[in-house]
Amino acid sequence: MTQQRRADGSLRHLLTLGELTRAEIESLLERAQHFSRPPGAPPARSDALAGITVANMFTEPSTRTRVSFELAARRLGADVTNLEVMLSSRVKGESMLDTIFTLESLHVDVFVLRDAEIGVPATVAANVAPHVSVLSAGEAHVAHPTQGLLDALTVLQQKGRCDGLSMAVVGDIRHSRVARSAYHAFRALGVTDLRIVAPPGMMPDDTEFGGCPRETDIVRGIDGCDVVMMLRIQKERFADADIPAGDDYFREYGLTTARLAKAKPDAIVMHPQPMNRGVEIESAVADGPQSVIRQQVANGVAVRMAVLETLAAPLAARRH
Ligand code: CP
Repeated sequence: MTQQRRADGSLRHLLTLGELTRAEIESLLERAQHFSRPPGAPPARSDALAGITVANMFTEPSTRTRVSFELAARRLGADVTNLEVMLSSRVKGESMLDTIFTLESLHVDVFVLRDAEIGVPATVAANVAPHVSVLSAGEAHVAHPTQGLLDALTVLQQKGRCDGLSMAVVGDIRHSRVARSAYHAFRALGVTDLRIVAPPGMMPDDTEFGGCPRETDIVRGIDGCDVVMMLRIQKERFADADIPAGDDYFREYGLTTARLAKAKPDAIVMHPQPMNRGVEIESAVADGPQSVIRQQVANGVAVRMAVLETLAAPLAARRH
């Protein structure tokens, strides 16, 4: 069990949504909604993290998560540094923890970590000074907690609730941290019909996604759904798997306008991105009227502001 909490029970780190209560998730989403702004409006700002220093350390590629964490921290008044790992002394053999201790000496208070290795965020969280917080920005195939939160916020904004909704997560579930965090978030928020739709080679082990029906046919899988979440094939996480390639995958599992018609008429289409158009999703769907993909991206900043504020504002307040 990962230790995410302080002695008083408050959240110190965010490594997984799996241990959060529904009330805690709802509280983070309420705060995120407070920071959410419509397209074109000036972004929300606060000085809640003035005097706090945030370090982004990503050892895997990222566009949305890294940029939105940086914007979120700056819009809360924090100082931010982005460690270019490939230009850092890690390439000279310095260990992850020695790098962390170095940044701690430079008064970093919050580490935002993305890493391909399982357990890195928890190891760092177990070794940093007591005032320091660690936030997972994506851990291997295991967890992407802020993605789960921004996905939940998007559904709440679109549907007004999660309770009682039917949702299909479609694609490479086996290798997806997005699917695992979505599972924790949406189950906690009352989605009872959460379907796992994947080719046999991309199904997770039977020990995972308890309570979720499994389906290998996309048309049956999305039938009557309120929410369809498409996933990219995580080619970087497996050497070979029994999956159809390229055009064959699109023919069997791609979300097309014709297939989407099997979901409810007001169903929304989600994708965490990056997406491979013409592989898991047709452009007409990705850019179509049912797509909320850009809203998901926008919600990334609001959610990360809410999480950073929740974890680090108590430290900022003590310093003022
Ligand atoms: N959704 C997501 O994690 O995107 P990035 O890999 O670009 O951060």
